[in-house]
Amino acid sequence: MLETEGLTKQFDGLTAVDNVSVTVEEGEIVGLMGPNGSGKTTFTNCVSGVHEPTAGQVMFKGTDITERAVFKNARDGIARTFQTPRVFQDLTVLENIEVPLLNTDRDLEEIEAKARSKIDAVELEHVIMQEASDLSGGQKKLLEFARNLMREPELILMDEPFAGVHPEIKKTMFDRIQALNDNGVSFIIVSHEVDSLYSISDRIVVFDQGAQIASGQPVEIQENERVVEAYLGHDITA
Ligand SMILES: Nc1ncnc2c1ncn2[C@@H]1O[C@H](COP(=O)(O)OP(=O)(O)O)[C@@H](O)[C@H]1O
Ligand SMILES: [Mg+2]
Repeated sequence: MLETEGLTKQFDGLTAVDNVSVTVEEGEIVGLMGPNGSGKTTFTNCVSGVHEPTAGQVMFKGTDITERAVFKNARDGIARTFQTPRVFQDLTVLENIEVPLLNTDRDLEEIEAKARSKIDAVELEHVIMQEASDLSGGQKKLLEFARNLMREPELILMDEPFAGVHPEIKKTMFDRIQALNDNGVSFIIVSHEVDSLYSISDRIVVFDQGAQIASGQPVEIQENERVVEAYLGHDITA
C-alpha cells in the first residue's frame, strides 16, 4: 500500500527525518512511536504531502507520490489527522464534515446523508448543529477524523489520536479505527499511549532522532533494548 524509500527531511541543517524506509501492507496498522522530537510528525507530513521531502521517495499503490500535494493525496485515498485537530471553528459539525465533498459533482442531499452517517459513526449526533468551536478537544479529533472519512480513504495517517481525550472518546476512536481496519483500511498511527498503540497495531516502528531504530511485533518492541535506551532520559509525555 505504502512504501517510503530513504525518506529524508532537513530543516536548515537539522535532519528531522533521516533515511527512513517503511512499508505499510494493505490492511495493516503500523504504530509509530519514538521520543519527543524524533521526527514522527515530520514523517507523516512528508508522506501526506504537507512537506516535500529533501530526499527519498514515497510510493502509494505503486505510484510515486513523493512530490504530490496534500489535497491531491486526500482525493486519491490518503487521509490525515493532526496532533492538534484542524477544524473550521465557525462552521457546525455537519457543515465541517460536508466540506470535502462540496466541490464535487454530488448533489447536496447525498452529501448531507453521507455526512450524517459519518457523524453517527463517531457518535457526534448530539452536537451535529453546534459550531466546532463549542466542542471539546477530543470531540474535535472525532470531527476531523469523520471529515476524513467522507472521501473513503484507503490509508489514514493519525498523529496522536488518543492524546488528551476523554476515555469515552478514546474508546470511540479506537473502535472506529478497528472497524475501518476490518474493512481493509490501512493506518499509520503515531502515539505516545504505548498500551493503546501496542493493542491496536499489527506492527510497531520506532524512531529516534529521525531514524528508524526498530520495527516488529509489539512484543518484540517491548523487549528491544535500543528502544528502551532511546526512551531513557527523554521526555516522552509531550
Ligand atoms: N517546520 C519545521 N521547521 C524547523 N524544524 C522543524 C519543523 N518541524 C519539525 N522540526 C524539528 O524536527 C524535529 C522533529 O520534529 P517532529 O517531527 O515534530 O517530532 P515528533 O513528532 O516525533 O515529536 C524536531 O527537532 C523539530 O524541532
Ligand atoms: Mg509530533
